[in-house]
Amino acid sequence: MCGIVAYIGHREAYPVVLKGLKRLEYRGYDSAGVALLNGGKLKVYKKKGKVAEMEEYAMGKDVKSHIAIAHTRWATHGEPSDRNAHPHLSGDGKLAMVHNGIIENYMQLKQELLNKGHQFSSDTDTEVLIHFIQEIKQSNDCSTEEAVRIALKRVVGAYVIVIVDEDNPGTLIAARKGSPLVIGVGKGEHFLASDASPIVEYTKEVVYVNDYEIAILRADELILKNISNEIQTPYIQKLDIELAAIEKGGYDHFMLKEVFEQPQTIFDSLRGRLDAKSGTLTLGGLREHLDTLAAARRIIIVACGTSWHAGLVAEYIIEELCRIPVEVEYASEFRYRNPVVGKGDVIIAVSQSGETADTLVAMESAKEKGAIILGVCNVVGSSIARLSNGGVYTHAGPEIGVASTKAFTAQLAVLAMIALKIAQAKGSITEQRFQHLLDELHDVSEKVATALLLNDQVKVIAEKYKDARDFLYLGRGYNFPIALEGALKLKEISYIHAEGYPAAEMKHGPIALVDENLPVVFVATKDSYYEKIVSNIQEIKARKGKVIAITTEGDAMIPSMADDVIVVPEADELVAPIISVIPLQLLAYHIGVSKGFDVDKPRNLAKSVTVE
Ligand code: M6R
Repeated sequence: MCGIVAYIGHREAYPVVLKGLKRLEYRGYDSAGVALLNGGKLKVYKKKGKVAEMEEYAMGKDVKSHIAIAHTRWATHGEPSDRNAHPHLSGDGKLAMVHNGIIENYMQLKQELLNKGHQFSSDTDTEVLIHFIQEIKQSNDCSTEEAVRIALKRVVGAYVIVIVDEDNPGTLIAARKGSPLVIGVGKGEHFLASDASPIVEYTKEVVYVNDYEIAILRADELILKNISNEIQTPYIQKLDIELAAIEKGGYDHFMLKEVFEQPQTIFDSLRGRLDAKSGTLTLGGLREHLDTLAAARRIIIVACGTSWHAGLVAEYIIEELCRIPVEVEYASEFRYRNPVVGKGDVIIAVSQSGETADTLVAMESAKEKGAIILGVCNVVGSSIARLSNGGVYTHAGPEIGVASTKAFTAQLAVLAMIALKIAQAKGSITEQRFQHLLDELHDVSEKVATALLLNDQVKVIAEKYKDARDFLYLGRGYNFPIALEGALKLKEISYIHAEGYPAAEMKHGPIALVDENLPVVFVATKDSYYEKIVSNIQEIKARKGKVIAITTEGDAMIPSMADDVIVVPEADELVAPIISVIPLQLLAYHIGVSKGFDVDKPRNLAKSVTVE
């Protein structure tokens, strides 16, 4: 949600930040902008739309500089427009700032500044903050760094800010609270970014800035302080991502690349943990918490969007194997309804990005109430990972497509392993079943590879139904959350209205929508709900609905009833969702592409939702 990149050092700064913006564009693409110091003067180029539009606008202009800040926006305060694009300038035009997050008390600050005669040229909270910093600087006659510190003590909300100062041309000032910020440490140069993707091709040495820290960056110096002006020692870590992981590698879209990476990413999420041959499962990040988990009174899974769907699958698996009650909560609702949480409750926060604001605040509030928090995250070192008492990384690699795909299947694999580990510790699973499920998980990558061979067939089905106005997705049991996920993918990528429902619930209302124009996708692989879902398919057919069925090899019944059939490899029902979701990801992808939409950057969305 908004991408920030900045550079100071011996290179030309503009090409570095421009490339960085392109890598960060998945975080927001309502507008883009750059501020740099050229001939000692601040120059700002910004434009509504994608980075390419800003690039075109800046073409031919003098962008020579060794210091620059840049931003790609997901609009919160004020519509996407040139005037609301970042960077924003202070009233005297000497400070330029980019910002990710929301300043919640900006109205109050704005009023104070208006009373002092400030005038604003945008609707953003960001412009208010940079005016506020300048006001403090002038009235206190202090440095920009000091003014930032004073200002941030008054700010309510979440932010990453980066400031360039015309009067101090060799320094960048950055600060964070609640939004991610990474510093890349090079030789005679420093990089700043919302994540490591703009940095990885220049240096592998990074520092993750903590909340309430202020970074003062010069070409050859990095000073980190807390908000009380005490020097902090930067903890330099080595990045473990490769450039290839953040490039398209010959695919038309990141989404398709990521869908096709799944045999490998699922394998990576199991690697070093699950050994089916020796019958062992090792989850280092859970070791200290296993007894607590086995004795848990309740497990509460908090997440949003696709990660919430992974949580729903986990609910079914954990209750089945561990006999522990599980609740799956929308993080945003959990936080604000004063939930009953206490000792004996374990929270599992699930998040691809590890930066989702709703999930973070839900974790914070549960922590205050005394619950143990475990994280299932994809991004190493992310805020959610750091706030957790323990947990398991999904190791799916960087996910750039805004629609989550490979992160979801890795979450399913990791959550299944967590369930197995708790069940083993609790003694609620037989050795035989434990071994059987290890074998099933071990085999799942290969079955996903087989499911991906259906790509061409799914493309033909996508062409057939792409003009439908609505879609219904139905499933039961472990496949019910997969129906929800299929519907979410279609909505995000193709802008077609789609609803997911438990197949049996359909007759309590949504069946009223069914007619010969409504495609109904059934996720109906062979499992303990099979007979029931067959009846549900008949109910749809009786009302002339068009049935697209995801079935398992060897099933003769459903293919005889459905209009279109997609046959996936058979698996134990606990593991089957990892396979049955594959054709649904492909269906959404092909419909989105055939309608001519930018599937990697669907309208109004952003990859990492860092505002509540
Ligand atoms: O990074 P997170 O997993 O916490 O993100 C949660 C949701 O914002 C995310 O899954 C969203 O729903 C995706 N766009 C789904 O494709």
